[in-house]
Amino acid sequence: MLLRIWDLPTRVFHWALALAVLGLVITGNVGGDAMVWHMRLGYGVLTLVAFRLLWGVVGGYWSRFVQFPLGLPSVLRYVQGGREPRLHWGHNPLGSWAVVAMLLALALQAVAGLMVDDEIAYAGPLTSLVSGDTVQLATWYHKQVGKFVVLGLVVLHLLAVAFHSVALRERLVPAMWHGNKVVDGADAPASQDNGRRRTLALVLAVVCAALVAAVVWYGQRHAFSAFG
Ligand code: HEM
Ligand code: HEM
Repeated sequence: MLLRIWDLPTRVFHWALALAVLGLVITGNVGGDAMVWHMRLGYGVLTLVAFRLLWGVVGGYWSRFVQFPLGLPSVLRYVQGGREPRLHWGHNPLGSWAVVAMLLALALQAVAGLMVDDEIAYAGPLTSLVSGDTVQLATWYHKQVGKFVVLGLVVLHLLAVAFHSVALRERLVPAMWHGNKVVDGADAPASQDNGRRRTLALVLAVVCAALVAAVVWYGQRHAFSAFG
């Protein structure tokens, strides 16, 4: 039976996030004028992560965090080779933890970015509003720790997807593109993915973008007034 697992909002979220993170790694390393785009893409990632946290509560069935098999017994059974197909139509137990880790690492990296100071030309919008110690900590984390955590998790993610696709012959990548998986079990719940749900996702995404824009605007406004 063909079942909708990943609703359109989750898929758009995923591919937009992948492109944004790729752009962030490139612009972060190029530096100079590219930092203007680095900061814009960073705000984009903040928006996407905020959206995904909300969508993890009200999104399609398989995108909800309560459907992630995060419990220790599920993880142990999975690691020991036990397969519970119903649990794995969405993210499998290790994949679920990887998703949580990536969302947290990206959130931390982007929030630190808001307070970074490169001591030449670029600083985050909140840099002049927090203490010097906080700026130092955020800059150290952003450049020396968080970037490796994000890159490490992404590399692990890509290796895991490649392993499942090639060695286990699971069609995970097409499913993240068109949303469907072939499952056995007539009682399997589908993720609702109709016009109403997509409109809800769009409204939530716009609210998240507005919140991020408000924080950036607030920071810039007060930074300018601090310089008179
Ligand atoms: C910087 C790049 C990337 C990041 C940060 C990233 C992040 C993520 C995240 C957060 C999820 C969870 C989706 C959700 O439930 O909302 C996910 C799932 C997934 N990603 Fe990526 N991704 C990246 C690149 C890619 C690429 C290049 C591919 C394919 C070639 C890919 C294939 C997948 C697949 C197949 C899933 C679903 C896995 C499953 O069925 O459990 N990702 N990714
Ligand atoms: C998840 C989102 C983000 C990722 C993955 C990311 C990644 C990176 C990377 C890889 C670098 C290069 C570090 C190095 O020079 O070794 C960098 C530098 C930098 N990032 Fe981000 N960044 C993100 C978000 C942000 C945000 C939101 C801002 C500010 C609004 C920001 C501001 C900066 C600045 C100013 C630098 C230059 C620091 C320096 O050279 O001293 N970043 N970032």
